Amino acid sequence: MRIAVVVGTRPEFIKTWSVIKAIRNRSDMDLLLVHTGQHYDYEMSQAFFEDLSIEAPDYHLGVGSHPTVEQTTSVMNRLAEVLANEMVDILLVQGDTNSCMGAAVAAVQMGIPVGHIEAGCRSYDTTMPEEINRIVIDSVSSLLFAPSAIAHSNLLRQGCEPDTIVLAGNTSVDALEEGLRLLGDGVDTIERPYAVATIHRAGNTDDKNRLEQILLGLGSLPMRCVFPVHPRTKKKIEEFGLGKSVKESQLMMVPPMGYLTFLNVLRHSNLIVTDSGGVQEEAALLSKPTLTVRNSTEWPETAWAGFNLLVPAVGSKIAEAARRLTQAPDAEPKHLYESGAGERIVDAIADRHRRGRLAKELINMIDTGYPILKLSDSVEGKVLMSFDKSGFLSSRQNGKRFLLEVYRELTNQEET
Ligand code: UD1
Ligand code: UDP
Repeated sequence: MRIAVVVGTRPEFIKTWSVIKAIRNRSDMDLLLVHTGQHYDYEMSQAFFEDLSIEAPDYHLGVGSHPTVEQTTSVMNRLAEVLANEMVDILLVQGDTNSCMGAAVAAVQMGIPVGHIEAGCRSYDTTMPEEINRIVIDSVSSLLFAPSAIAHSNLLRQGCEPDTIVLAGNTSVDALEEGLRLLGDGVDTIERPYAVATIHRAGNTDDKNRLEQILLGLGSLPMRCVFPVHPRTKKKIEEFGLGKSVKESQLMMVPPMGYLTFLNVLRHSNLIVTDSGGVQEEAALLSKPTLTVRNSTEWPETAWAGFNLLVPAVGSKIAEAARRLTQAPDAEPKHLYESGAGERIVDAIADRHRRGRLAKELINMIDTGYPILKLSDSVEGKVLMSFDKSGFLSSRQNGKRFLLEVYRELTNQEET
């Protein structure tokens, strides 16, 4: 079978690594790797292909930077051209970016089943473009690979068919384990104690006051802070003229780091301040005290396990929370996520393919209390209409029965 994997941003290169490897390890599977080009700077893209020895993509869509709607439609249009000429059995996306959403919708509209890696994560904050993307991607996907028990239960609560959900584990763990293996013993490159910060969420960077408060907070931590600056954040710091306010402080602003360099800095650090999804997961996996500068998180288990504290974007609160967190006893290491997710995802796909169950099933509406109205294949020019299992409609729902009768009249149908 042929599997397309679509990636476009820094976390997707990292989090699909083990899935790509697992596909490559199987003789019965062929990979089509597509890079949307949402991230394109060397240190936001190529550096990860090199660090993790990921093969060059078969297609590069060159989408680049645009406002959300334009970026998403550009992914859809350009990917549609590729998919029109390539036979694939399933298309995989990971996470919640515009690349991911555009690719999932384009594929499903072209009749290609979609598998979502990291399905079911919810911050329940629809002001974040990522939350909207997550909901859309999950609802069009026929295979939902949940990274955690909470993500799994979110999907069930939202009415997803249990048979479409696979509790696969978190592919971050696979990449992290590989990264630590490649690093070996490694050495501290920065004198301890130090903190690491990453900030890039649109909600934090695109508001001048919020960004300034975060920079003030990072500059007032009880230790030096290494801050690899995401290009979005760099652009906004320049645009708002905030560079000067941090120059004198103990904030070391550096370019984005490659994966291995970043993991090395992360694992030797004493404190992490972030708004990143991936960094929250990695910090918890490394048992590091973490401040997340957000009002919500799609990784609540990292907070429940005692590693992650949500803080408001207020300089004094960030500094105070950091002081309190670094004085607190270390949280007990916890086994939050299973490794081996890449293998499990690919095994589940092979299994569904073998059983002819890759495509999205028609929703069984009897479970939701709505009448089912499945239109089955046309037989000798007549479309046959079948009802749910036991005459649910005709016996109990007169109003809906009326609608069906009208429908039948209009289409000249027979009930089967
Ligand atoms: C995107 C994702 C976000 C994810 C993040 C990972 C969406 C809505 N957002 O946010 O969920 O957490 O990637 O890092 O999909 N830029 C460059 N060079 C690059 C890439 C971007 O200079 O290689 C600059 C451009 O000015 C661009 C800005 O960064 O306008 C934002 O990039 P974009 O890809 O739109 O969103 P991210 O903030 O990176
Ligand atoms: N990361 C990196 N270099 C950096 C900052 C982050 O390699 O300078 C990695 C980090 O280890 C994590 C991923 O990038 O695996 C997270 O990406 P990002 O924060 O951009 O996106 P998010 O996870 O929030 O979607």
